[in-house]
Amino acid sequence: MRMYDVIAKKRNGETLSEEEIRFMIDGYVKGEIPDYQMSAMLMAIYLNGMNDKETATLTSEVAHSGDMVDLSPIEGIKVDKHSTGGVGDKTTLVVAPIVAACGVKVAKMSGRGLGHTGGTVDKMESIPGMRTTLTEEEFFQVVNNTGLSVIGQSGNLAPADKKLYALRDVTATVDSIPLIAASIMSKKLAAGSDCILLDVKTGSGAFMKTLDDSITLAEKMVAIGEHAGKKTMALITNMDIPLGSLIGNSLEVIEAVDTLKGNGPADLTEVCLQLASGMLYLAGKGDLDLCRAMAEKTISDGSALKRLIAMVEAQGGDSSVIKDTSLFQKAPFKLEVKAPKGGYITHMDTEKCGIASSMLGAGRITKESEIDFAAGIALKKKVGQSVMEGEVMAVLYTSKEELFLASAEEFLSAVTISDEKPAAEPLIYARVTKAGAERLV
Ligand code: URA
Repeated sequence: MRMYDVIAKKRNGETLSEEEIRFMIDGYVKGEIPDYQMSAMLMAIYLNGMNDKETATLTSEVAHSGDMVDLSPIEGIKVDKHSTGGVGDKTTLVVAPIVAACGVKVAKMSGRGLGHTGGTVDKMESIPGMRTTLTEEEFFQVVNNTGLSVIGQSGNLAPADKKLYALRDVTATVDSIPLIAASIMSKKLAAGSDCILLDVKTGSGAFMKTLDDSITLAEKMVAIGEHAGKKTMALITNMDIPLGSLIGNSLEVIEAVDTLKGNGPADLTEVCLQLASGMLYLAGKGDLDLCRAMAEKTISDGSALKRLIAMVEAQGGDSSVIKDTSLFQKAPFKLEVKAPKGGYITHMDTEKCGIASSMLGAGRITKESEIDFAAGIALKKKVGQSVMEGEVMAVLYTSKEELFLASAEEFLSAVTISDEKPAAEPLIYARVTKAGAERLV
């Protein structure tokens, strides 16, 4: 078989066979297929797409390019969750403890920030001493003892995806539905849980900007998960506005803890409760209403917060900052961003908000950049609220004062202020199961 012929086939809009997909992934991981040929293939897939069978085969080959984690040493049903990435999305830190407090195990591998989006591992590392790399034995032990563990992806989890993702990032082939579906689901299948709840974000801060594309992506991922024998469901959630009010690593841990104490922002609390209910439902804990009531109780009785503290301690973290979030190290500099005119905030370009936070040091500008854990943005006003000229819309935090100017400009360019109050946007648009998509608005 020659890679040239496989590329030509996809370029001509034909369907690739299982053997051809296996040949290209195997050869690419071994270094026998060079980046320039794989780049041509990625662009051919980007332009001509893949059918469901091709996407499922690609997912399976990428998953099997490395370790397939065997979670059987952990007792009971294990449920995983995955967000397609957003701004202010600290849901894992809320949802995993809730689900664990309801008696369902969460053994989760999370990622770092990518582009304008934040990553759970970076957020967790803002907790002093917190270890996000554990041996497999330690990982299993933490889950068995506390009900949950969240760590970074092990080095050999879907290595083909690591190579492919880096190549897609520089060849303008990231936002392709089959490529995203295979990338996400290969890692979920390799990570070994029994059930998978997908949080597919839609809007200006998401990789999928339209609801239709988000639903198509969710349908493909649910089909792949179910085909592999995993109970899989997706929620399509709003990422046209940052989730919650705090963006940045320790800031997001603080907001997650507030939410677990029952004092979180309404949007974040609602999305977390819906995600947690979905995970409990997949794990067989009852219908969605019952699961929601269970999830709510873990907030009101403090049991979910106790689970977070237990996990932090089991992974070497200093839980005093969770018990009293005022102990988190603060950024030495802050800047208030004021409204240039009065009116209603009608839009906040969420990708730009994420970039503005990254520019303060909360994200990586290059792969080698060190994260400033205390950097980020506290939103004082969100879409739908009125502002007066000169009123504070946000406070920026950083350890490097010289970063303020560019970040404040980026943030201001994200905000649209108009005379008319905008209609309220839904938080959850649809639920996707193997039976199809159910629009909730
Ligand atoms: N997240 C991933 O892991 N892969 C993608 O392709 C997009 C988002």
